[in-house]
Amino acid sequence: MFLVTGATGSLGRRIVEQLRKQDMPVRAFVRLTSNYDNLEDRGAEIFIGDLREERDIIKACQGVKYIISSHGSGSDAQALDYRANIELIDRAKEDRVEHFVFISVLGVDRAYQDSPTFKAKREVEKYLIKSGLNYTILRPSGFANNLIPLAERFRDTGLYLLIGDAQNRSSIVSTDDLATMAIASVSTEAAKNQVFAVGGPNILKREDIPRIFSRLFKREPIIINPPLMVFDGVRSTLGLFNPQLQKSLGTLRTLLANEFFCTPEEIARLESTFNLKMEPLESFLQRYLAS
Ligand SMILES: NC(=O)c1ccc[n+]([C@@H]2O[C@H](COP(=O)([O-])OP(=O)(O)OC[C@H]3O[C@@H](n4cnc5c(N)ncnc54)[C@H](OP(=O)(O)O)[C@@H]3O)[C@@H](O)[C@H]2O)c1
Repeated sequence: MFLVTGATGSLGRRIVEQLRKQDMPVRAFVRLTSNYDNLEDRGAEIFIGDLREERDIIKACQGVKYIISSHGSGSDAQALDYRANIELIDRAKEDRVEHFVFISVLGVDRAYQDSPTFKAKREVEKYLIKSGLNYTILRPSGFANNLIPLAERFRDTGLYLLIGDAQNRSSIVSTDDLATMAIASVSTEAAKNQVFAVGGPNILKREDIPRIFSRLFKREPIIINPPLMVFDGVRSTLGLFNPQLQKSLGTLRTLLANEFFCTPEEIARLESTFNLKMEPLESFLQRYLAS
């Protein structure tokens, strides 16, 4: 039995769907308020709980062989990115779970002090490595599905909002490929007790993204490109009313201000370990948006 946290999220949903396609038993950790109908329809066991609650984590881990931690945190990195993962790791040890897959983030080792999520994920990585459990840590760059709503807006309006440096590079990863690797991690000997940088096959400049949209929808892009200081100004102003929100925007600021890409060697290592060919962003978008 697999336990998947964040099972209604963009990655977790894909992991559960792929597991069910392979007829694997999976327990999907979901919140009552979330939309989990189609996971149930596909034969996943639904566990309703809240990752902030220790007793829910204890119950969810019972009888589980593998854990894939793929939940997000909203604005509460301390409770969800950090505490819930530490608790999952402790339970995994207690319950003799055979393999723990942790979805971290690319650049987690660069000590970005402004991002509670990056800091939490780094601490969780260290805790997991020391835990004695079999583990795989996947450090993905930005997910391709994030771009679907932006592409849809572009299709309708031609507009693309690009905040900050248009030359910044990233290796946007197909969320489907990432789900495939998360599942394969538990049965791939070369992935045992390893940390992988995970990205798509191409290093893209941020200005390449509206160009890809332009090719897909055959329309000229109208790029709105405010400098990062506009974002900083808005963030500071919001902070006057809501200091917590200002702090949690630190992760978005970190993402906007820095580069997150994989080297060709890192991609080659992924492709040979998991025996797959990473999908380019353009092909991912074509699959989801063609019609
Ligand atoms: N998105 C990216 O570009 C990106 C890049 C690198 C790394 N990552 C990491 O990859 C992982 C998956 O990201 P994602 O984009 O798929 O996340 P997402 O779409 O934001 O989904 C977050 C998931 O976590 C669940 N969740 C949040 N709070 C919860 C709670 N208190 N109890 C139980 N479940 C809770 C959500 O449930 P509800 O449906 O109930 O809200 C949802 O299923 C995260 O760890 C993220 O940090 C993401």
